[in-house]
Amino acid sequence: MNSFHSWVGGKKLLREEVVRRFPPGCRRYVEVFGGGGWVLFHKNPGGDEEVYNDFNGLLVNLYRCVREKPDLLIRALEFVLNAREDFDRIRRILGAGPRATAVQRAAWFYQIICQSYGSGLTSFAGRPADMWAKFPLIRQAHHRLRRGVIEHQDFGRLIPHYDRPDTFFYLDPPYHETEGYYQNIGEAGFTEADHIRLRDLLLAPDFQGKFLLSYNDDGFIRGLYDAPGIWMEPVTRLNNMRQRYEPNCQFAELFIANYDIRNRLERQCTLFDSIS
Ligand SMILES: C[S@@+](CC[C@H](N)C(=O)[O-])C[C@H]1O[C@@H](n2cnc3c(N)ncnc32)[C@H](O)[C@@H]1O
Repeated sequence: MNSFHSWVGGKKLLREEVVRRFPPGCRRYVEVFGGGGWVLFHKNPGGDEEVYNDFNGLLVNLYRCVREKPDLLIRALEFVLNAREDFDRIRRILGAGPRATAVQRAAWFYQIICQSYGSGLTSFAGRPADMWAKFPLIRQAHHRLRRGVIEHQDFGRLIPHYDRPDTFFYLDPPYHETEGYYQNIGEAGFTEADHIRLRDLLLAPDFQGKFLLSYNDDGFIRGLYDAPGIWMEPVTRLNNMRQRYEPNCQFAELFIANYDIRNRLERQCTLFDSIS
């Protein structure tokens, strides 16, 4: 299924590639940098325990309201206007940390996501946005999230908390040198030191789980994870930001994992070949 909202850096176009590289046999799935949850919503719900996490408090509040109070949220969104004046006013209110109910804050934040240019939360998109068309998506997400845990933690606290031999972490951090996109309302920012802090946690000798990271294919990131037992696989996807000017322009992504991520089909063929 689809997410109920777009998000900067969302993995809509890469989600199938990510899911195909999941390791078998894990009992707990933790999405550390949840954002729009495109991989979480796409994966088979299966029987594993699922954890969605993000450090953006307004985003996490929205997810909790979708899970706990979808009807109230939809009601609050029914009379929203797609107007620049409202967008600017609500952005100012949210930026000031308003004293409002959780549902009201969630509705305001959802409006800003849906009506901002590229879901970047900063400028009014000025294009048609049918809020009512989103309501079925909110209801689907409500059902999908019912069994899951929603966390609001920095990755440095979350990962040790859930780390076990049967935990699988999917991590989609802000990309190197695009961290500025995540210094917006509700967000704390991300720095080079955070990329290093993440690497130190995932490559620590006492790390027990399995992890799959998606990053931009970048020399600094390759250098961080150049270590024994770590698999890297470059992949490309359509660069949707540039399609208007450069049709078919590709974006270079990098998968990094602490288990063999060559796709299953390839591995099955190798096994078959060795038998015949
Ligand atoms: C690239 S986006 C994730 C996109 C997501 N995979 C999707 O498909 O929509 C990165 C996310 O990391 C979150 N984030 C930034 N710093 C964080 C931190 N220290 N701990 C946890 N999450 C953080 C941001 O709020 C943002 O939503």
